[in-house]
Order: sequence, then C-alpha cells, then structure tokens
Amino acid sequence: MLKDCDALWINANLATCDLNHTQAYGLLPHQVLGVKQDKIACIAPMPVFEQQHSELTNLPIHDAQNALITPSFIDSHTHLIHAGNRAQEFEQRLLGASYEQIAQQGGGILSTVYATRQASVEQLVELAIPRLKALMAEGVTTIEIKSGYGLDLHSELNMLRAARELTKRFPVRVSTTLLGAHALPPEYKNRADAYIDWVCQELIPAAVAENLADAVDVFCEHIAFNPAQTEKVLQTAQTHGLGIHIHAEQLSNQHASALAARYQAWSADHLEWLDEEGVQAMAESGTVATLLPAAFYFLRETQVPPIELLRRYHVPMAVATDFNPGTAPLASLRLAMNMACTLFRLTPEEALLGVTRHAAKALGLQDQIGQLREGFAADFIVWNIQHPAELAYQVGINPIKQRVFAGKLSHV
Ligand code: NIG
Ligand code: FE
Repeated sequence: MLKDCDALWINANLATCDLNHTQAYGLLPHQVLGVKQDKIACIAPMPVFEQQHSELTNLPIHDAQNALITPSFIDSHTHLIHAGNRAQEFEQRLLGASYEQIAQQGGGILSTVYATRQASVEQLVELAIPRLKALMAEGVTTIEIKSGYGLDLHSELNMLRAARELTKRFPVRVSTTLLGAHALPPEYKNRADAYIDWVCQELIPAAVAENLADAVDVFCEHIAFNPAQTEKVLQTAQTHGLGIHIHAEQLSNQHASALAARYQAWSADHLEWLDEEGVQAMAESGTVATLLPAAFYFLRETQVPPIELLRRYHVPMAVATDFNPGTAPLASLRLAMNMACTLFRLTPEEALLGVTRHAAKALGLQDQIGQLREGFAADFIVWNIQHPAELAYQVGINPIKQRVFAGKLSHV
C-alpha cells in the first residue's frame, strides 16, 4: 500500500533489472516506487498513485519527471585499500617488461605490500576515501574490498578493518574478502606450501574470529599459487562458512574456475583463458563470471574471455573495476561498463546487469540488492537519461540526479 510508505518516487521509468519483467532491462515505464525504512515497499503503475493521491498528502513525494531509476551499482571486485602506487611499473611495462617479469623480480604486488605494511588503519582509510568517493559519485552503493597487500597477520587484518571502517563513515555497504593467498610474502620465499598452511591455520581463523571477512579469495596463477594450494584455501573457507571468490584464468588456464565451482564459489574473476569445461562447471554451480576489462586494458591483453560460451551456458556475468595500483588503476565503474562493451562486446544490458543483479549474486547478496523489487534494499539511482543503454555508452558525463542508499537520499 502506498500510504504505508515513508516516501514515494513518482513519474519514474524503472529499469528494474528484475527479469520477471520480460522487457529488456526489466523496464517498467511510468511507475511509482515507494520506500519504507531501508527497503523498497511498493512498485506500481502511476494510475495507482493517482487513485490513492488524496490519502497520500503527508508523504514526501519526489517527482522523477520521467527520469530513469536503476538499482544502484555494485562494484563486486576491488583492491580499494592499499598504500603507494605503481606508476613506475606502468612505465616499465610500456617499455617492454611484462607483468609476470616485474612480479618475478620482486616488484608488482610485493611492491604494494611493502607500502601497505607501513600504513596504519587510519592512513589506509584516508587513502581509500577519494577512491571510494569517485566510485560513489558514479552510483555505487555496494563495494567489495579485498585484503592481499599485507600478507602478514597484522597487515592483512588491518586492511579488512580499514574496509569495514568505511561503512561507518559513508553511506555504502562493503563486502570484505580475505585475499591472504595473493602473492608469496618475502618471509616465505621458496616455501609456498608453508605459507598456505599459515593462511589456513592462522590467518583465516583470526579474520573469522573478528568477523572481518565475508569471503576468501585466491590468486591461482603460475606467478602466484597452484591449484593444490588454492584448493586448501577453498576447503578452509568452506569449513568456516565464508563465501569464495577466485582470481582465475587471468594469464593462463589453470582450471581454477572449475576447481572453485566445485566449492560453490560465488564468483570466478578475470577468466581470459577460461575453457568450455570451466564454463560448464560454473554454470552447474551457479558461479558468477566476473569480468574485469580494466585489467585486460591496462595489461594490453589480447585474449578475450569466452563471452559467447558464457552466454550459451547462461553463466551470469558481473562487471567490476578491479581497482588496484597494478593492473587496474581505475576508479570508474561506468568506464568499466563501457570497456566491457567495447573490449568484450557485452551488450549495454549485460553491462548494466553486470553491475546490479549479477554483481549482487557475485557477493552472495542476490536476495537483497541489485534489483528494483519489493522487499529489496532501497538502494537506487535516479538518472537524467532517457534509456539505460546510455549508462554504458557515454563516459565522462555524470548524469546522476539522486542517489538513494538504504531508503535515504545521500550526497557524495
Ligand atoms: O586483480 N591478479 C591479481 N591481482 C590483481 C592485481 C594485483 C596487483 O597487481 O597489485 C588483479 O589484477
Ligand atoms: Fe583483482
């Protein structure tokens, strides 16, 4: 009932991203959307509002004036918390060094580890704030943040504490991921198995004890951890009831996506070298394929993820920034959507679902966010645009009219 709502948005065209509505984007034209507390309480055609208008005089009413409303955006893969930057490495790569060579020489991820270990929680938060604000300004209200630049107990937990702290200071939801198995720290040089044992026996339980991690991630790659080591971490995550993400098939095919699918991973991410068997395994387990076109772009990769196969097997595709100082210094989810279209040939509709409904599933939050639907979180954006394809099409212009998080208007 509209009169039971706390506030209404009227004259709105909704791109619900709810595929029960058969129109592309789940489009519903000329609607009223009612919010109660932090949830969407009612979605109805405008004539319903007109009939009940006389009973609604005390309600705050926002006239969207035929603007488009979408679920707000979810950036489902970021390394937002870190210190230092790697502009010099960017330069080295342009001069011919590869990402793998730089990593093997002790640069790459480890250079960010050295900088991050020096920083306090407060410093990590301060460094993250402008990055977070940039994402929020474009319509993001939920962001996944990984550790993985500490690689010791104190620094890994501090990264997660900093990530949690952001939710106390900003109108944003954060999903945290423990990425202890991101690279081998110098203390464990040539002892990768021992490091993985430490991750499983000490690091994961410590993060769980403080409720700092919603999920676990592993970088399964020839320059990082092998499938056997990866599997140990996934087993431990499963034992603790944590969600699972995996950095898989980015630089080579390690069959890591199929492995993670056996552990009902929420998402497998990157996927440039994914094969059909991996796609099939992901389809069976309901694992989301998270595409990270910015990393592909910055590394000047040429191997494109198997989009056609993912479509054929109905694997949901998410799109995320992968914001990090090495492979993706990009704090723009809208540009990532555009890149997913131009570089990977996603349709604008797939790109929008990739930052809403499918991104929610990649975080295990598919029953709460990512769609305009009664009972879902009242997290949405009112856009000054005519058609949802514009969100992936135009870059550098920010058409946000209103940002609503948990039922409240929020300004960034
Ligand atoms: O998602 N591939 C591994 N991890 C990150 C990059 C980390 C870094 O280079 O600092 C990624 O691309
Ligand atoms: Fe990443």
